Amino acid sequence: MSRLMKELQRDHKRIDRVLSLLEAQLDELAGDGDPDLALMQDALDYVEHYPDLVHHPREDVVYMAFRRRSLDANEIIDALLKEHASMPAMTREFRELVDEAVNDALVIPRETLVNKGRRYTKAQRSHLNTEEGLLFPLLKATLDADDWEALEALMPAPRDPMFDAELGRYSQLYAYIKSRETVAGPA
Ligand SMILES: [Fe+2]
Ligand SMILES: [Fe+2]
Repeated sequence: MSRLMKELQRDHKRIDRVLSLLEAQLDELAGDGDPDLALMQDALDYVEHYPDLVHHPREDVVYMAFRRRSLDANEIIDALLKEHASMPAMTREFRELVDEAVNDALVIPRETLVNKGRRYTKAQRSHLNTEEGLLFPLLKATLDADDWEALEALMPAPRDPMFDAELGRYSQLYAYIKSRETVAGPA
């Protein structure tokens, strides 16, 4: 498999781990438990700074290259590109809601946070599943070694600010994700 395809799939596994963390916190919120809102803020901040900012724009370039080779997945690609365009605002909106809940500037009912959060994680998962289940197999079957080489020349390997940097801005979040998976087993 090409280096780029591996990177995109590795990103998906990482995004899945972050979504699982958000879902677990939303379950805490829904069940009158003790959610860690600061952890949710960190998770959403990470999504804004890597998946939304780096991962999806890289996919856009690959999808356009695929489109030059085949029109087979046009509708799927249109839908995914549209989602990519709207995802940063979606993440920001939910993050701002969590920020407000933390700052208590507005008293936000738990139910609102849970509903908005679940809508958010559901949309993220559905996007991921469409890519993994429908489009990525077509990319692998259609793009040849020269295509991948050209794409890789355009896009050097990125640095994930959490998973490629144990120390730093997301170190607490990373430690939490790892400890949770040690207890529950990887998602
Ligand atoms: Fe995507
Ligand atoms: Fe993706």
